Amino acid sequence: MKADPRKDVAKVLIRRAALAARVKRMGKEIVAAFGSESLTVVPVLSGAIIFTADLIRELPLKMKINLINVSSYVGDSVDGDDPKILHALTADLTGRPVLVIDDIVDTGRTLRRVVEFVRGFSPSKLLTAVLLRKKRKPAAAVKPDFVGFDVPDKFVVGYGLDYNGLYRNLPEIAVLRPELYAAP
Ligand code: IMP
Ligand code: MG
Repeated sequence: MKADPRKDVAKVLIRRAALAARVKRMGKEIVAAFGSESLTVVPVLSGAIIFTADLIRELPLKMKINLINVSSYVGDSVDGDDPKILHALTADLTGRPVLVIDDIVDTGRTLRRVVEFVRGFSPSKLLTAVLLRKKRKPAAAVKPDFVGFDVPDKFVVGYGLDYNGLYRNLPEIAVLRPELYAAP
């Protein structure tokens, strides 16, 4: 049990049942917005994988999945540097409805970059869904269309979100013990 990631958790912010219930409701909101259109979902790797896996099973719509990878920075550490798209999309998004899915909006630069990139393919509709939105000052650079939860401006892990690549498999959204957030 030495490597059990749950031992590093200081506080659980959002429990499994609350995640499941909210994801289900988000599914309904998204279906209402897309109607019966078939769509392409564009999940942002790697943080969105678990949210995406649960959310798309709440979307009874014909869909294709096109993963996108974006270089990520934490918080404001590299202000002025725009996130980079690391690999191109393979599906044709032109004239099709698209839903971009990400784990969390902090500064909003990642989501803004992805939206900009996808918009370049001229989709017929482009909406965005994020599981979490950090309450921050100044406000984030983008307004996601669907938000699961607003969370405090703390570094959170679990349900796909990582710290140094770890903790994505925690089933809940949690804050780690402070001594773990040391400089690498
Ligand atoms: P942005 O600042 O909105 O561009 O967020 C950049 C990326 O940083 C997000 O897509 C996440 O992958 C990551 N990130 C931001 N805040 C957190 C956090 O609290 N936990 C884990 N990852 C985060
Ligand atoms: Mg991310």
